[in-house]
Amino acid sequence: MKRILIAIDGPAGSGKSTTAKLVARRLGYVYVDTGAMYRAMTFKVLASGIDPADESAAVKLATETRISLVDGGELKVILDGVDVTEAIRSEEVTKNVSLVSSYTAVRELMVEKQREIDSGKGCVVDGRDIGTVVFPNADLKIYMVADIAERARRRQEELSGTGVDLPVQQVVQELKERDFKDSTRETSPLRKADDAIEIDTTNLTIDEQVEIILNYAREIAVGHEEMQRK
Ligand code: DC
Repeated sequence: MKRILIAIDGPAGSGKSTTAKLVARRLGYVYVDTGAMYRAMTFKVLASGIDPADESAAVKLATETRISLVDGGELKVILDGVDVTEAIRSEEVTKNVSLVSSYTAVRELMVEKQREIDSGKGCVVDGRDIGTVVFPNADLKIYMVADIAERARRRQEELSGTGVDLPVQQVVQELKERDFKDSTRETSPLRKADDAIEIDTTNLTIDEQVEIILNYAREIAVGHEEMQRK
């Protein structure tokens, strides 16, 4: 079947990454977690002792940074040759990533890198601006949403798995702050593309989310094939 490019956007905790990863596995596609690239950049800013509010220093650092995603079963995030897959999930990175990713020049560098993806291989790309800015011609655009309470529950569970226990109120607050910053920044804010399909995952299981997207993907891939045959 023809290999397509699937863009999955939405706010934090909407189920994007888990779903995107599984959809990619099921189709034998490459999975690209663009949030991981912004996290890796934020990790480097913090590790270099730069104030994340210092835009020009963060941008200069970004021009001297190499970030690559290696998808060999489990996605590995490599920053200047070093594996930072786990380090980029820290609370400190999560708290600062919306600020660092709001810098236009940082975004331009990341978007340029994201566009190098060979879409002919078939890929699932998740982020905030994939359907609107990075790949406006994506074959399938999904916009995932979920209630804030459910998103907080998921995030709390994910944190708890890494040994971090936070009260749910704090998780809700952090999610709201990140949503606000991600959707009000000047350059490529989080928003649903006009032609994206919205999926509310509040009451869906992961398997159900994956099946819904796979069905759309198959429909589109078959449609492309039929067009080519005509
Ligand atoms: O998907 P995530 O929660 O790991 O993403 C971390 C942050 O990176 C998110 O709060 C906003 C930013 N981001 C972005 O601005 N654009 C993207 N395409 C992906 C993530």
